[in-house]
Order: sequence, then structure tokens, then C-alpha cells
Amino acid sequence: MEKLRVGFIGAGRMAAAVAQAMLLAGEVQAVNILASAPSDRNLGKFQDFDCKTTHRNLEVLENSTFVFLATKPHIIPSVLREIAPAVTPDHVVISMAAGVTLQTLEELLPAGTKVLRIMPNLPCVVQSGAIILARGTSAGEQDVALLKTLLSPCGLCEEAPESYIDIHTGLSGSGVAYVYMFAEALSEGALKMGMPWAMANKIAAQTLMGAAKMILETGEHPAVLRSSVCTPGGTTIHALHELEKGSLRATVMNAVEAATSRARELGKK
Ligand SMILES: NC(=O)c1ccc[n+]([C@@H]2O[C@H](COP(=O)([O-])OP(=O)(O)OC[C@H]3O[C@@H](n4cnc5c(N)ncnc54)[C@H](OP(=O)(O)O)[C@@H]3O)[C@@H](O)[C@H]2O)c1
Repeated sequence: MEKLRVGFIGAGRMAAAVAQAMLLAGEVQAVNILASAPSDRNLGKFQDFDCKTTHRNLEVLENSTFVFLATKPHIIPSVLREIAPAVTPDHVVISMAAGVTLQTLEELLPAGTKVLRIMPNLPCVVQSGAIILARGTSAGEQDVALLKTLLSPCGLCEEAPESYIDIHTGLSGSGVAYVYMFAEALSEGALKMGMPWAMANKIAAQTLMGAAKMILETGEHPAVLRSSVCTPGGTTIHALHELEKGSLRATVMNAVEAATSRARELGKK
């Protein structure tokens, strides 16, 4: 994969996270990554990675085959109009913009352009992200396979129908914030009982990571793992009863539904 050339139009937080993961895994060489943005605000990070940078979006098309669109969603239509004349059948265009559909991408690019959509989440920054990808009508098996290899250092990467992208936003994109709130509540519970906050915060995060790792590594249903922690009349079942009284499960299900519905609503605007 040494000669693969990857471009980023938009060089913000998510573009840098994806580029950094690719570099850490050695999937692409830094000299073969080119990022563009109108200002120097974010390009320094790419320069720190030894990647090339430019203020001209078209230069990215001229120098890369895999082109990630990583601007804010409302900028995407103008970027597509700008780059469309330079897009060739060799390019693979991958948008990470929330709410911008494959149909919009295909309509604004030349007919037959290989287009894919990805939806990453913030932990891609620490190579533990969850990404869903959906392919457009002209993207082939090989394009998907290559993209998956490129993105694998970011974390989990699953192909899915485009309709799952908004659900992924409700589950995982926004989901990280629900987990942070839960982590904060765990730590504050321990603080209330007398443990220093810094220690409680560290242990809460490790508890979340360990529990998540067991779900992934054992493949067990979370309910099975949960019941294995409960001894009759013990501490855990007393605590779980409190969580049930607070409707934890219904509240979290409502949260996923609310964020998914909002993502669908924003996608229609
Ligand atoms: N952050 C997340 O957790 C997350 C999760 C999933 C998906 N996404 C998607 O990822 C995309 C990027 O998000 P982000 O958080 O990385 O945004 P960001 O940090 O604000 O970065 C946006 C980048 O786009 C550049 N830009 C603005 N106008 C441009 C133009 N006309 N041509 C080229 N580049 C232009 C900006 O340039 P300057 O550097 O000059 O300001 C900046 O580098 C969004 O579409 C978002 O929906 C983000």
C-alpha cells in the first residue's frame, strides 16, 4: 500500500484523527497524504505528521486517488461543485459529513463516480473508534475492501446500508457523550462515598473499558455478563434495583431514539 495516495479536503479534528490512525498503522506513507483547508488553522497538525498541505482543494484531486471530504456538512455542496470537474473514474470519494446523503454526493459529482459515505466517532482519535461505511452505486468490492483496510487502524469498521448511518449516530456518534455522562456519574458516586475524584475517574474509565472489552471478546449478551456479577442478596443486585427504579434502560433507549430522529431530521434539511 506504499504508493497509495490519500487526500483530505478539510483538515479538522476528524480528518486528522483518520490520517493519524492510518500513519500509525503504516497503511500510507506521510508523504503520500495531502490535506487542504482555506486557512493554516488546522494544517499545522498535518505538517507535524510530515504530510503535505495546500490551500487548493483541486490540488488534492490532482495528487490523490482516495479523497476524503472532511469539511462541515453545510460546506460540502460548494466543495463538490468546485472539485467535480477534476474528478475522474480513478478517484474514490469518501464523505464523512453527517447528514449528506449518497444521493446528494452522486448528484453533484460526475456520473459513475465511486462514492462512499463513512460515519466515524470521536474515539477514532485514540484508535478505538466505531465507523460505519455505506457504498454508492458505482463503488465496487475492491474500493470497499481498500477503504476498510485504510480505516481499520481507527477501530471497528463495518459496512452497512446507508439507512443505518443515522442509527449509528444515535448509538455511537452521540453515544460517546452518554457514556461520558455515565462515567461522570460513577465517579461522583464514588466521590460521595469518600474516594478522591481523580482516582474514582480513572477507575470508572477502566471499568467501562474492561466491561466493553468483555462484551467484544466473549461475544456474550450483556445480560449474561451482568447476571454473572450478581450474587444472591449481594451488592450488585441491590445497585441494579436502584438503576431499574431510575429507568436506566428506558432512558438510554429513549436517548438513542432521540439522537437518531434528530440525525434524520437534520439530513432532510
Ligand atoms: N467531530 C466528530 O466527532 C465527527 C463525527 C462524525 C462525523 N464528523 C464529520 O466530520 C466532518 C468534519 O468535522 P470536524 O469535527 O473534523 O470539523 P472541523 O474540525 O471544524 O474541520 C473542518 C475543516 O474543514 C475546513 N474547511 C472549511 N471550508 C472548507 C473548504 N471550502 N474547503 C476545504 N476545507 C474547508 C476547515 O478549514 P480551517 O482549518 O481553515 O478552519 C477545517 O479544516 C463534518 O462533516 C462532521 O459531520 C465529525
